[in-house]
Amino acid sequence: MRIYFVRHGIAEDLSSSDFARELTKRGRVRLATAAKVMKRVGLRPSVILTSPRLRSLQTAEIIAAELKVDVTVNEAVNFGFNLSDVQALTDDMTYDDEVMFVGHNPDMSELVNEMTGADVAMKKGGLARVDVYDRNTARGELVWLIAPKVFDGLRKQSSKTARGDEIASAILPDKPAVTHSSLHGLIRRRWSPVSFDPMRPIEKSKLLSILEAARWAASSYNLQPWRFIVAPRGNKHEFEKVWSVLKEGNQSWAKQAGVLMIAVSQTHRDTGEPNSHAFHDLGLAIGQMVLQALDHDIYAHQMGGFYPEKARELYRIPANYEPKTAIAFGYRASDLSRVSDAQRERDASQRQRSPLAEMVFNGAWARRASFLD
Ligand SMILES: Cc1cc2nc3c(=O)[nH]c(=O)nc-3n(C[C@H](O)[C@H](O)[C@H](O)COP(=O)(O)O)c2cc1C
Repeated sequence: MRIYFVRHGIAEDLSSSDFARELTKRGRVRLATAAKVMKRVGLRPSVILTSPRLRSLQTAEIIAAELKVDVTVNEAVNFGFNLSDVQALTDDMTYDDEVMFVGHNPDMSELVNEMTGADVAMKKGGLARVDVYDRNTARGELVWLIAPKVFDGLRKQSSKTARGDEIASAILPDKPAVTHSSLHGLIRRRWSPVSFDPMRPIEKSKLLSILEAARWAASSYNLQPWRFIVAPRGNKHEFEKVWSVLKEGNQSWAKQAGVLMIAVSQTHRDTGEPNSHAFHDLGLAIGQMVLQALDHDIYAHQMGGFYPEKARELYRIPANYEPKTAIAFGYRASDLSRVSDAQRERDASQRQRSPLAEMVFNGAWARRASFLD
């Protein structure tokens, strides 16, 4: 479950009561900017729950108008909003749901800190995204925190008055898995983006480390059936050669990768004897590569969408080897102006997984494993 915490925008100092304090003009303008950026980044809360105090309600309404979602006033989000309130209000939500809370400090900052172990102080109009990975304890990961100044910078960047690479990278969302059990950080962080930074080559030492990870994979009879055709983008000719065997849908985004690869498996020994685990072992080696890459902050996107026979012909791959997958590696894009709307949308989409009960059996085929209960 993804939770967005928003602290209300800048409000007038005095009014007839604290309850009636309104947003200032500057507060409204800043929030309108922030809401546009939230929309662009793909925030999709199903509902916005707000404190009843006017400055909070006005904040929620400005965001809701842009994101086209409903606002619900809830007394629990008022002063004193705490972890049990969050748990109670999200009780019937699923792991795939997104919700936004708009309220006050110190509650907002304290909640983010308590849930994630961070030590942040949210500014007025600031936004934090927390992905909850343990519903029982409401523990989560602070995926990002955006200060109002950063929203301003992003708007300027989109109107080409500022570059703001760092700002942009701060808001291109990452997509850690929302898990039911604790996972190694690399496994949780891994996903397959389509927005890579074409200006940032992959260092040779890191590429060698990624390949070394494949080399040390387990394999049936230690046959090590994997082979890799590797093309760093610095070598234009080689890069375009691999790129030319990709299917068109993949070509559009993979052209920004730092390295393109074709993964090949030796399906038959030179004696002609088949290796029935050849693809299993290739996948295992790629799995290791992908995680090793991420340890260097390099993301991988595997592709079945390529023309294996074209690759065989271009590279003269022998008959007892089979080109199985293409892989794009790269650093994530940091310059929003190089990322198309289609790429941004794909990268902002929710990750889906089937439940363990559909894939883990015992006793008989398709019988839900008893230890899952
Ligand atoms: C063998 C394999 C082939 C894939 N082929 C493509 C592809 O041709 N194009 C693409 O955009 N993604 C491709 N993917 C990526 C998957 O769509 C992606 O891994 C899946 O949706 C799960 O998302 P995640 O990796 O972000 O968790 C492929 C992944 C694998 C492992």
